[in-house]
Amino acid sequence: MDNDTQLFQLLQKELERSQRGLEMIPSENFVSMEVLRALGSIGTNKYSEGYPGRRYYGGCQYVDQIEQLAIDRAKQLFGVDHANVQPYSGSPANLAVYFALLNPGDTVLGANLAFGGHMTHGLKVNFSGSLYNAINYTADKNGYLDFNEIKSLAVKHKPKMIIAGFTAYPRIIDWQKFKEIADAVGAFFMADIAHIAGLIIGGVHPSPAEIADVLTTTTHKTLRGPRGAMILSHGTVSSPTKKVERTKENIPTLIDRAIIPGLQGGPHNHTTAAIAVALYEASQPAFKDYARQIVLNAKTLADSLMNEGLDLVTAGTDNHLMVVDLTNIGVAGKEAEKTLDEVGITCNKNTVPFDTRSPFDPSGIRLGTPALTSRGFKEKDMKIIGRLIAKTLKNITDDKVKNEVKKTVRELTDQFPLYPGLQYDRPAPEIYL
Ligand SMILES: Cc1ncc(COP(=O)(O)O)c(C=O)c1O
Repeated sequence: MDNDTQLFQLLQKELERSQRGLEMIPSENFVSMEVLRALGSIGTNKYSEGYPGRRYYGGCQYVDQIEQLAIDRAKQLFGVDHANVQPYSGSPANLAVYFALLNPGDTVLGANLAFGGHMTHGLKVNFSGSLYNAINYTADKNGYLDFNEIKSLAVKHKPKMIIAGFTAYPRIIDWQKFKEIADAVGAFFMADIAHIAGLIIGGVHPSPAEIADVLTTTTHKTLRGPRGAMILSHGTVSSPTKKVERTKENIPTLIDRAIIPGLQGGPHNHTTAAIAVALYEASQPAFKDYARQIVLNAKTLADSLMNEGLDLVTAGTDNHLMVVDLTNIGVAGKEAEKTLDEVGITCNKNTVPFDTRSPFDPSGIRLGTPALTSRGFKEKDMKIIGRLIAKTLKNITDDKVKNEVKKTVRELTDQFPLYPGLQYDRPAPEIYL
């Protein structure tokens, strides 16, 4: 046993929780053992402020190659000229884009949180809504993007940047329509593909790479890498001493400078190494099958839930997630999240379009299939899971029903081993001691 038994026992409990439950939070996934190995590697020991070939520290010859590998793989996979793989996570990546392209007080147009946007797209209590003049677009009454509204807000407020990309939007995004609006008002167009990066690489969602001026993505959602992020764009980086204007051609230079020295210090080299591994995995033919299966599973789950009489925002899904509006069965989102947790199904409460309840206890829940698909779940399993979710939610106070569901969940998860052999409550291998 390691010396810090207290900590390793907690990790063991978290491992068992993951193994025994149905993980249905759409932004979560299970990385491969290779990604885990790179993430737990000696990369964490090294300081390397700067970029490959121009660092502020010695001894960077190997971390230079690791970062370059991640950069080259990202450029190749997403079809862009420039990739910055250093942002610590998705929110800092988005902050870096604001810092690179805008002045405090400038106007930005992004999706409202309650309609599927992310906090960094202009929520009042986030940096994006407090340091910038954030205008939010919503959706039509069925939950679809309303391009008439987006256009009229853009024409009225003349934003310097328009953001497309969502946390809880279940449909294909028409990147071209956003671009036309951005061009019409002279705004930068930022695509935040955090949720759908893996679907884009897998060829089941259109890519904004040739359309948007700048792309941000997390690496830990459908891309199935470590917690981290990347900023992607077109053009070349100017020499460090050259003064550059805030123009589209200069975006790669502006982004690199916004990350360091603008916002961050040393990159997390263990994370960069794990991103490189995840990008390698995403370039393999099997990843296309994975992406296709995520969507097939989501569509099957959506149908199963609707067959059970549950309401889905936009009445279905094109991607990896769905938002269930629980109003018609008289259950609140918070209660649904808690009860599903009790039976071993993990999801999160979520607002629905024009929600009449508070964001802290909204009317819906959000469900997704990336993590279960990584475990090997297929359509037949999704049909069962849809029925289990509906049964639980319709019998929210019935302990007998909940116990039955819990047992079935356990039988189901036992069929799909997760990280067999991984154990945190046993001594670490000699090599680590
Ligand atoms: C669309 C979108 N952008 C950015 C982020 C932020 O990522 P992180 O949680 O890594 O800061 C998220 C996270 O949920 C997201 O959904």
